[in-house]
Amino acid sequence: MQKTTKHLVNVRIAAILFTVIVSSGCATGQLGKHNSDEFKNGMVVSAHPEASEVGIEILKKGGNAVDAAVAVQFALAVVYPNAGNIGGGGFMVYRSAAGEVNALDFREKAAGSATRDMYLDTAGNPIVTKSLYGHLAAGVPGSVDGMVEAHKKYGKLSWAEVLQPAINLAQNGFKITQRQAGELNGLHRKLMEFNPNGTAFVNLESTWKADDLLIQKELANTLRLIKEKGRAGFYEGAVADSIVGEMKRGNGLITKEDLKNYHSAWRKPITGSYRGYKIITMPPTSSGGIALVQLLQSVEPFPLNKWGHNADSTVQVIVEAERRVYADRATHLGDPDFYPVPQTGLLDAAYNKNRMSTFDWNAATPSSKLLAGQIKGAEHEETTHFSIVDRQGNAVSITTTLNGSYGSLVAVKGAGFLLNNEMDDFSVKPGAPNMYGLVGGEANSISPNKRMLSSMTPTIVEKDGKLFMVVGTPGGSTIITSVFQTIVNVIDFNMSMQGAVAAKKFHHQWLPDEVAVEKDALDSTTVEKLRKKGYNIIQRGPIGRVDAILKTKWGYYQGGADPRGDDKAIGY
Ligand code: DON
Repeated sequence: MQKTTKHLVNVRIAAILFTVIVSSGCATGQLGKHNSDEFKNGMVVSAHPEASEVGIEILKKGGNAVDAAVAVQFALAVVYPNAGNIGGGGFMVYRSAAGEVNALDFREKAAGSATRDMYLDTAGNPIVTKSLYGHLAAGVPGSVDGMVEAHKKYGKLSWAEVLQPAINLAQNGFKITQRQAGELNGLHRKLMEFNPNGTAFVNLESTWKADDLLIQKELANTLRLIKEKGRAGFYEGAVADSIVGEMKRGNGLITKEDLKNYHSAWRKPITGSYRGYKIITMPPTSSGGIALVQLLQSVEPFPLNKWGHNADSTVQVIVEAERRVYADRATHLGDPDFYPVPQTGLLDAAYNKNRMSTFDWNAATPSSKLLAGQIKGAEHEETTHFSIVDRQGNAVSITTTLNGSYGSLVAVKGAGFLLNNEMDDFSVKPGAPNMYGLVGGEANSISPNKRMLSSMTPTIVEKDGKLFMVVGTPGGSTIITSVFQTIVNVIDFNMSMQGAVAAKKFHHQWLPDEVAVEKDALDSTTVEKLRKKGYNIIQRGPIGRVDAILKTKWGYYQGGADPRGDDKAIGY
């Protein structure tokens, strides 16, 4: 319990580092035919203005949404090193203009020599720092293979063309934002500890300031090798040697074999419906898609629109749905290549409706009294999200991460990129919370070559068979509930894309049994009413950093760039 608290405090401190410059943003959406910030030809929304620029330039020169996505992923690895990455992994949901859908799982994997109890001490207790910092925290990276696969299947421009903008940014440098300067200064001591031989992220001469140029020569070289050799430029040769060299230095597990054997997986997206809209989202190894559809099914019978945004009844129904869905997540979800996830059962609308039948309007359901549902017929704080739509109407939704901000804090010497600390997303011991307070069991236990369960929820929404929304966010365990609230904000509360993204959010995840709310998300009367019913309401820092695109009924794209960060929507 002590560890949970410590973890949550850490997460909250990290969250508080984000500046909130947000009003509740409940502006309604599609009033006029066309506002000046709506665009006809395409749009990119990402966590960093430089990365959004890279994406829009690719679209303007005739690249499609996947070309732009690959370019943005690599650009974010340079200009947003806290989460953009080549040393991590992620998920992509794709919808072509013609309506073909696909999903790509480029989540990291445990090394071949990983063991179930590798983060426990001799008494069987988790050693929290071991799965969070340093070499042992890293899973085998998936992002480069993912981008190679996505480009091979859907790309139109050459591989070299989509790599070049990131190479330029790394080689010539880019101006860091105020926020980034603060983060890098805050991490100075830790980065020195894990990188005694220095890294581009450490400023040895003075402190970082806004607009300082961050030049990453080693990373530029690594990106050049990837440009020339494709996946072999990363998973073999000099870069693989550097990764394995790092592992030797810091007692990590990743071997040349692990790197060579890493392959991302094309998967069938999860689909569901909500008030006549079609939801296309990420299947396991992320829990996000299943949980999102479960949440939508759970609240669909209730008149949220009549009650109002963040009104007490709305909050109560959503919290009770979240409690039930996260209890299911803890028991039933894990890597489908290793564990028989009962997907059909969890996505059954009748099952989710029935789960909601046990809640009591007069009192909160204590999480301690609520277990995961019985499913019949079981079948065999830092991430980043970006959303892209191109001129033809193809759409890409990608969430990608190193897990914690700046991952394991280990930058691969000679190769210039940060390694993830994704191993913490496994359940290191049944019931022991990870850095987001999430618990798990057998389904998400550590095994060699297994993928750790994720909450990332890149999603695309259709209306009447046509593209409607592209959405996703970082935020660890809050990802699912933030994507859920953003969709509900548009569909039930008729908000604009920007309004839905900016609107204040709240979150419940079964355990710990608390409703975490952003400042001013709920008014004092609502808080009072909910507290009387037994809801433990706590205030926390910003929730999520949603980057989304909405297609208006007039055929224009509206961006939603989260004001909780430096995020930027650019259209043309
Ligand atoms: O895959 C996951 O669910 C987590 N590793 C995501 C981490 C994250 O969103 C951190 N960002 N704030």
